[in-house]
Amino acid sequence: MKFNVPDYIMSIKPYEPGKPIDELEREYGIKNIVKLASNENPVGPSPLAIKAIGEHLASMNRYPDGSAFKLTSKLAERFNVKNENIIVGNGSDDIIALLAHAFLGSGKEALMPLPSFLMYEISVKTSGGTPVMIPLNGLEIDLDALADAVTEKTAMIFLTNPNNPTGSHFTTNQFNKFMAKIPKNIIVIVDEAYIEFARDPNIFNSLASNLESNIVTLRTFSKAYGLAGFRVGYGIMDQEIASVLHRIRQPFNVNSLAQVAAAAALADYEFLKNGINIMHQGIDYLVNELSEMGIKTFPTQANFFLLDVKKDATEVFKEMLKHGIITRSMKSYGFPSCLRISAGLPEENRAFIEALKKVLSL
Ligand SMILES: Cc1ncc(COP(=O)(O)O)c(C=O)c1O
Repeated sequence: MKFNVPDYIMSIKPYEPGKPIDELEREYGIKNIVKLASNENPVGPSPLAIKAIGEHLASMNRYPDGSAFKLTSKLAERFNVKNENIIVGNGSDDIIALLAHAFLGSGKEALMPLPSFLMYEISVKTSGGTPVMIPLNGLEIDLDALADAVTEKTAMIFLTNPNNPTGSHFTTNQFNKFMAKIPKNIIVIVDEAYIEFARDPNIFNSLASNLESNIVTLRTFSKAYGLAGFRVGYGIMDQEIASVLHRIRQPFNVNSLAQVAAAAALADYEFLKNGINIMHQGIDYLVNELSEMGIKTFPTQANFFLLDVKKDATEVFKEMLKHGIITRSMKSYGFPSCLRISAGLPEENRAFIEALKKVLSL
């Protein structure tokens, strides 16, 4: 490298997203591809969101509302907080990066479960801070080990509930016990990207009660709301933390179409509920079929789950591509014989099962 790049930047491995449908079409020349690799909503965006975008297209010569006032106000109303408690971002990825850039830096550490969502590590390293990885206990986030790992260098802790990629979760009791051990000057980020899918009533929901001032909730319109392509996420937090993030965010970090789409989707409760039902049915169907095939699956509170194919997962992933099915190999996440799949539409789930039977010769 002829340019002088800090070692902490060069230590970052680029994020590898789920394989895009277009790429597989180009590479294999096949159509009707089924993508179960990125935990997306297979149903589509809400029709209300599509309508709202259509109505806004003629105003695209204007800059977006930099304060995202309408969307922020709707979120504030929904969650019974003030606009000042909310930051919207270009996906929750954006807010993860803002938090790391604002509160970390050389000499500061962020604790995070391993494996978990890879953008935590990337953002922490980008800020010059040090990620400290705390291995899962089985498939669960090890809250005790995270609390034990706190030092005076710790500025931030990432928790994912339900966790990606394992689908595991922690309860309100477990979280409260954990928080009792955490100093109040450490920011605890609770990433609830998949919370809308949770079926255990005891799961910790950080917006169900008043937040302590060091807890930051992250949520997204990419999953249950079906707007992943628009890139809208939001964080709910203490006003003081939010005011710091406002200093460093891009002035127009959520584009206008994304703002109107998200505001419309938030109001379409029926669509949300129906999509969640379809994904629950998909998970139940897949788990049932896989169990009949003798394949172990792991419990989940999300719209995805892990399955143990008892073979090299990356090889199975590659074979599944030939059948037009995109899954995610968990080899690089420390589960060498597991795939992660999200629930698709019924015909997509059936296609996955048929292809897996062929690939595994079952
Ligand atoms: C746990 C978790 N957090 C955050 C995100 C990022 O979501 P967004 O699309 O809002 O950036 C994802 C996306 O896969 C995720 O799995």
